[in-house]
Amino acid sequence: MTGDEIRQRFLDYFEKNGHKVVHSSPLLPANDPTLLFTNAGMNQFKDVFLGLEKRDYKRAVSSQKCIRAGGKHNDLDEVGKTARHHTFFEMLGNFSFGDYFKEDAIRYAWEFLVDDLKLDRRRLWFSVFEGDDEVGPDDEARELWVRVGAPPERVLGFGRIDNFWQMGDTGPCGPCSEIHYYMGEDPDDPTKNTAELVNGPGDTTMEIWNLVFMQYNRTESEDGTYTLTPLPAPSVDTGMGLERITAVMQNVKTNYDTDLIRPLVEYAAALSEPSA
Ligand code: ALA
Repeated sequence: MTGDEIRQRFLDYFEKNGHKVVHSSPLLPANDPTLLFTNAGMNQFKDVFLGLEKRDYKRAVSSQKCIRAGGKHNDLDEVGKTARHHTFFEMLGNFSFGDYFKEDAIRYAWEFLVDDLKLDRRRLWFSVFEGDDEVGPDDEARELWVRVGAPPERVLGFGRIDNFWQMGDTGPCGPCSEIHYYMGEDPDDPTKNTAELVNGPGDTTMEIWNLVFMQYNRTESEDGTYTLTPLPAPSVDTGMGLERITAVMQNVKTNYDTDLIRPLVEYAAALSEPSA
């Protein structure tokens, strides 16, 4: 399946499930002084999550062009070191604005990956927020993963860095739950397909999709302290790297080997060949 077909498959799946297909917004955010570049699919919906803007739909799906080269989500230092980071990428996302919440977000993600794309479920791992002083553990997400079919030992708890998402120092945020995929050999070998590789070293097990359960707005007061206040309604913001899921589907080791990026590498290589 080509990268273009995977993008379309994602949009079609969520459109079929009642989501409005929305175009990618520009890479330069229109009205947001907190961001230099668009860094996530949810940026164009920030005011909808905050209850400041109303749209005539409560569910949306998009493939958003993103740049992560500065600010809170900065991948620049990883580029060239990993097989999965590149400053520009496309983020596939489904969104609920006070409509469905954790249960359906988890069910949709499972159905799309396992039933629609037919990923090998032996290779899937899941992470949930284990809680800290500010926000409690997300036991509900853990239970929901198991209910849709994840083996309990494949659902791991992590802290704030991995499993609490916010777009910047301020703005909508909440605990999140990620799906990771083991790309190595023999998924049945428990010494190879291990829990330690999830959020661990190397590219063998890679995060493919992040489901954020948007529940709070983080604001900064004049004395520089930050406060969490509940959003008007619990909402959902997800992001799956198009180049990553394409690498998985095309069974290649790096995002650079997908049909989305390989032609660019080859074109640049041909241009840089010394002339005879
Ligand atoms: N906004 C979330 C992310 O960028 C989905 O990971």
